Amino acid sequence: MRCLQKLCCNTMAACSYLLNIFALCVSFAFISCVQVEDPCKIKSRVAADDKYCDKYWECDGGQAVQYDCPNGLVFAGKHRGVTEGCDYPWRSNYCEYPKVQINPPNGVEHCDWLYGIFGHETSCTRYWTCWNGTATEQLCIGGLLYNENAHSCDWPENVDGCQKHPLCNEDPNGNVPLGKSCNRYWQCQGGYPRLQRCPAMLVFDRRSLRCVVPPTEECDVPTTTPPPPEEVQEERQQVPHKSHRPSQEYQDPQGRSRPRN
Ligand SMILES: *[C@@H]1O[C@H](CO)[C@@H](O)[C@H](O)[C@H]1NC(C)=O
Repeated sequence: MRCLQKLCCNTMAACSYLLNIFALCVSFAFISCVQVEDPCKIKSRVAADDKYCDKYWECDGGQAVQYDCPNGLVFAGKHRGVTEGCDYPWRSNYCEYPKVQINPPNGVEHCDWLYGIFGHETSCTRYWTCWNGTATEQLCIGGLLYNENAHSCDWPENVDGCQKHPLCNEDPNGNVPLGKSCNRYWQCQGGYPRLQRCPAMLVFDRRSLRCVVPPTEECDVPTTTPPPPEEVQEERQQVPHKSHRPSQEYQDPQGRSRPRN
């Protein structure tokens, strides 16, 4: 009886060993079956590489030719991505295991890669968008901070190392004037700022730090004119993914060290 049990166990062990081998064989077969599509046989004339997410194949004069995505980007598909069919690697599942990025980062000041969105060296409210190595400084507004994992502006509670906003340093539960605005202000709640607007017909008084009946020293009775152009400009910057256009290079005299607290 004991012997029979042992035999049975041995058989099962052998079976499971064989099953493992079989599974291994199947996965090898699967990996070696994943081949580059011939770009000359498909309508788009462009195909992803099978191993490297930052390379792709294009049909040039009847021949498949391999190309690199711009530095920092990965292949997304024809007419997709931010440029040349390539996109930021975090945007989607463009670069998943076992595929890897093979080209090394070709960084310049402020830009780890020539294309991408990167954290600021010295500020939690600022970040860099890089386009072909040209860095443009961007600002998170509305009390948001730059989140390096999301590559965008986010609520302070989601941003490690930058929880409390410097705006609220003086009084973690006080109000703070917003530039020269007569009806908008920051309301700090436990160190987190929230953008607020005074009720209609009231203005923000920078002395008492409250909404009061106008006029105050700086603010007359509110009118219904649209906000000045620079405020509109500021609102637009809040949506970083929509503004990848290159613009003037920003020179930061303070190196790349990044104290975040
Ligand atoms: C990127 O910049 C380099 C040099 O700064 C330039 O030669 C190249 O044409 C630029 N590429 C694009 C796509 O703008």
